[in-house]
Amino acid sequence: TGLITLDDGYANTGSCQSAITFIDGEAGILRYRGIPIEDLAERSSFVETAQLLIFGRLPNEAQRSEFRTLLTENAALHRDMRKHFDGFPVTAHPMAILSAMVNAIQTHEVRDEEATDRQHFKQAAAGLMAKTRTIAAASYKSHIGQPIAYPRYDLNYAENFLHMMFSVPYRDYEATPEVAHALNMFLVLHADHEQNCSTSTVRMVASSGANMFASVSAGVNALWGPLHGGANMGVIEMLDEIRTTGIKPQDYINRVKDKKSGVKLMGFGHRVYRNFDPRARILKDAADKLLDAMHITDPLLDIAREVEQAALADDYFASRRLYPNVDFYSGIILRAIGIPVDMFTVMFAIGRTPGWIAHFREVSENPAQRIYRPRQVYTGAQLSEWQPRSER
Ligand code: CMC
Repeated sequence: TGLITLDDGYANTGSCQSAITFIDGEAGILRYRGIPIEDLAERSSFVETAQLLIFGRLPNEAQRSEFRTLLTENAALHRDMRKHFDGFPVTAHPMAILSAMVNAIQTHEVRDEEATDRQHFKQAAAGLMAKTRTIAAASYKSHIGQPIAYPRYDLNYAENFLHMMFSVPYRDYEATPEVAHALNMFLVLHADHEQNCSTSTVRMVASSGANMFASVSAGVNALWGPLHGGANMGVIEMLDEIRTTGIKPQDYINRVKDKKSGVKLMGFGHRVYRNFDPRARILKDAADKLLDAMHITDPLLDIAREVEQAALADDYFASRRLYPNVDFYSGIILRAIGIPVDMFTVMFAIGRTPGWIAHFREVSENPAQRIYRPRQVYTGAQLSEWQPRSER
């Protein structure tokens, strides 16, 4: 017992020690294993970034090639998993499908009770990364009634995802280098972000000794919420609403400022970043470049710029130190690539999977790990009398 200190939403509680990702929210700094996000976004593939997060350093050629082989060999889902896909209604949200399927992987794969994912960690980690991609593409294909496409050995992770999404029988989709680069960058920028809601959830579940698939499946559900990963869908829905209703960005901002409206400016604000989100800066620039390279314009990009400008000039946002976050411009890129809006949060989940795996590993390989078990400040009745049903 003793006095419990309340820290609402854990805003100032260090819940763990971690050597994976560093954030300085005041300075807008984000580093994976010490390497600045700007360098990784421009120069690293998603898979080598995943290896950096999970295993602690950038891979050499042999390590890269070993992991790449593991990804390819473990990409296919057990054929019985098809039955799970068939069970979902066509209206099922892709995040519900993803979390259920990630959890189901374990039931199909690990037949030998001794062979836990903790003992065969590298293979399980590669398998989970490859299979989240397969599940996402397969659920899209089954939704639109097309046969699934298998990954190709000659393509990298991002290219393979696009191939599995958009290839049709007898016609393989070939991503342009600009599109492949933009998607790779999107995935790298989402790969980890220390103790965000979903990652803390993964660690929480892992701390009880649960397996990696169960832990990551819980993370997918945490990410789904509109205040977390669901915000990337929310941004596009908001921009589209502004476009279709013709409401002026400033009037929309005024609606947000009126707390009674219950409307938040999606893609704005962050618990840790107080001056800018470095990921948003990179993505804004990347969205511009991608649309240029594809020779397309998107009216939503212009609206996004206007909304951003109006918000930044407004005292409500300035005084609360609210700036665009990673979700503000990412949807423009996903839209240009052709990803349907209801899959945006799934894209975030595919990107975040290496981070979840790295944090699972940090928890599960720590012999001194205690179970996560926060306390509370109790606000209920002290002592109540039990009443017979007839008197209630
Ligand atoms: N629009 C309007 N007001 C906001 C917003 C927003 N987007 N974000 C924060 N505020 C206000 C909030 O109402 C509060 O005002 P007051 O002090 O008058 O009560 C003040 O700013 C402080 O906000 P908070 O809710 O205490 O901040 P938090 O650290 O608890 O929440 C957040 C952080 C990201 C959940 C929040 O900023 C938010 O809801 N943003 C919109 C959803 C969003 O874009 N989420 C994505 C986050 S980044 C990546 C990810 O995790 O997916």
